[in-house]
Amino acid sequence: MKVVHTISDLNNELINYKSKSIGFVPTMGSLHDGHISLVQNALLKAEAVIVSIFVNPTQFNNTKDFNNYPIDYDKDLEKLDKENVDVVFIPKSAAEIYNNEKPIKVDLNGIDEVMEGVHRKGHFDGVVRVLNLLFLLVKPHYAFFGEKDYQQLMVVKSMAKKHFKNIEIIGCPTKRDQNGLAMSSRNLLLKKEDHNRAIKLIKLLEESKLMFQTYDHKSIEDYCMSKLKKFSIPEYFEIREIDCLRKVGGKTTKQRAFVAAKIGDIRLIDNIEIN
Ligand code: PAF
Repeated sequence: MKVVHTISDLNNELINYKSKSIGFVPTMGSLHDGHISLVQNALLKAEAVIVSIFVNPTQFNNTKDFNNYPIDYDKDLEKLDKENVDVVFIPKSAAEIYNNEKPIKVDLNGIDEVMEGVHRKGHFDGVVRVLNLLFLLVKPHYAFFGEKDYQQLMVVKSMAKKHFKNIEIIGCPTKRDQNGLAMSSRNLLLKKEDHNRAIKLIKLLEESKLMFQTYDHKSIEDYCMSKLKKFSIPEYFEIREIDCLRKVGGKTTKQRAFVAAKIGDIRLIDNIEIN
């Protein structure tokens, strides 16, 4: 496994994979089993796998959140080495990535204007900016993203459809711990006593799935928000269509329930398909 820190070293390394299909897994590090499952999917699909580790400052709307984001490169590299990843790109600084940026304007058809787009202003602009740069550098055939960040997955699919037609964006199912808590690097920051409250998020999502058969959307959302308030600081509980993330009244199209809430100081998100 080769680890590179500069664009020129990355380019030199990529020459070795010119005739191979490339699977790319962009990450912000603190790798857990969710990331490793993305890597394993990439290994199955592509002949070479490139992983990036970069805590991207432009997608954080909160400096404290950025400064607290957990980082452990040694542990991450150990895990990636075990999986036989080919190349890991850890940019030495934000400038290494952003210095020659030529920004693109992406019309995301409103996908970025709901849920995370409302509660983390500018977040998706930052995600699109960094992925534009990383996709241009790595030139992958496939790129892998977790369904835990389902809205991000839809944003990236929309971006690729318009600007990176040659990259297939592949969504992978959310990995959960033995209690059902969606794996997230932020779980590391949860206090021990908050863990039991965090697992109530998936319980609530599952309850909404049962309710979906009988109740209308608004009643379910209102009920779940009031339940959320009992153990967290809720941001949203919403039911939306799986592709365009629109809110629809009917039940004939495929839909997901989405939740975001603060448990203690830690903001968590999760979602599941409900029909
Ligand atoms: O999901 C993440 O970890 C980040 O948003 C990503 C896709 C690596 C972009 O910085």
